[in-house]
Amino acid sequence: MSEETKIITEMIVGASQKAREETSNEPEPELTQPLQWPVKAMIGPGLEGAIACESKIGYVNGSKGWLIYRGYDIFDLCAYSTFEEVSYLLLNGDLPTASELDNFKQKLVSYGFLNQTLRLLMSSPVESMNTMSAIRLGTLLMRRTITPLDLEDGNPFRADFINCDEDSIPMETAPKGEVHAIYEFKRPSDDMDNNEACIHLIAGLATITAAVARIHQGRMPIEPDPDLGHAANLLYMMTGRKPTPVEERIMDIALILHADHGMNASTFAAMVVASTLSDIYFSVGSGIAALNGPLHGGANEQVVRTLMEIGGPENVPAWVKETLSSKGKVMGFGHRVYKAYDPRARVLSVLAKFLAETNESIKPLFDTAQSLEKEVVSQLGTKKNIFPNVDFFSGIVYSCLGIAPEMFTPIFAVSRVSGWTARILEYLENNRIFRPRAMYTGEFNKQYVPFDQREGKK
Ligand code: ACO
Repeated sequence: MSEETKIITEMIVGASQKAREETSNEPEPELTQPLQWPVKAMIGPGLEGAIACESKIGYVNGSKGWLIYRGYDIFDLCAYSTFEEVSYLLLNGDLPTASELDNFKQKLVSYGFLNQTLRLLMSSPVESMNTMSAIRLGTLLMRRTITPLDLEDGNPFRADFINCDEDSIPMETAPKGEVHAIYEFKRPSDDMDNNEACIHLIAGLATITAAVARIHQGRMPIEPDPDLGHAANLLYMMTGRKPTPVEERIMDIALILHADHGMNASTFAAMVVASTLSDIYFSVGSGIAALNGPLHGGANEQVVRTLMEIGGPENVPAWVKETLSSKGKVMGFGHRVYKAYDPRARVLSVLAKFLAETNESIKPLFDTAQSLEKEVVSQLGTKKNIFPNVDFFSGIVYSCLGIAPEMFTPIFAVSRVSGWTARILEYLENNRIFRPRAMYTGEFNKQYVPFDQREGKK
């Protein structure tokens, strides 16, 4: 461990101590007991308060501001662990032994080579696509072509569609091409089950995200380096440069921090799709779609754009006044579950400070962020329990690592795929399709009016 990475560990331990001093970490009893279905819950709009399932994967103590993965405190995992270990932990229930970790890392490296999937992806206009839609497409292209559904009687063999000259075939004609192109979507090994597909997806999202970043820079994607860890490889494949130990460590911590977070919108979206017994690749694709929104993972990109728009710490009070008086939201603040300081923001805040101190171009953004944090917390902290969330400082950290804002949310997906897949696997053990109801507040018994008798009024 280099001197600088030791400093990073110390900073995280310091952030953890501060959190301990400011909050206590008793579990909330009503949310840590085995369920007896049906459960009684007070449900608010947006399913606030609803309990969807039991889980042993992770726990968010919203009133105290603590986050636990499989029993381990997020601060400890950030200080001492790696994203590979944490992904293994989320998927398997405990931290890996040396040989388990070695095996897991080898799989991540080998599944990270997705040359054929990337070639397919590049046949789409990736350079002009939104980066989240590009990584979603790439994820779906990783999916094996042949599933039992695809092979049902009456369904044409999908591979027949792939390798023919589509331009010469009328749209309404099912083309019959050669079948050898089936490859790329195919499972890397014939015995790949859902557990293996999770590792395939964790590895693949990093490669695809890095490739999308490269294509957006007008460059060709590059393959992973088998000698690098997952975080280092992500940076290497995006920038073409092997990261320094500090850059690698910071990216590793950022990936750990974003890996899981209860029944957040993207996890729930992925689980809803999985609960239909759809393919896990489709499920992860749905998670990516949900994460894209500015109320969820998309906020990190918006934060940096907001900081640029504010233009400096001196403009913060006026900007906040105007935003709040027009009922606007300040991106990177507030959370459905946290009513205290988000522990992930505590870690990212110290990392952002550490990096911004030596980065002249980002320092003004960080200064603006600190001033914005102070102003928003003083106005809304006690009044509405609004504090910075995970998205507030992550963009500054990524900017210091030379990453463009359009890649911030894809990087979130590179990490959250561990949580999505772990929770899908867990839910499928006792699967029941998600199917809530809506309260119908429309009309009944309306007389059908034939088209030619309807007048003006809608
Ligand atoms: N800025 C200003 N006011 C806010 C903010 C904010 N960021 N967040 C919440 N509030 C206010 C609301 O205006 C509302 O006030 P009111 O009761 O006077 O009407 C109150 O706090 C409750 O807000 P809701 O939007 O009802 O809270 P909800 O739990 O539905 O939403 C959310 C949570 C979406 C995260 C919200 O805080 C928000 O929009 N934040 C900004 C976007 C953001 O940073 N998203 C990332 C979240 S972290 C993640 O997903 C990874």
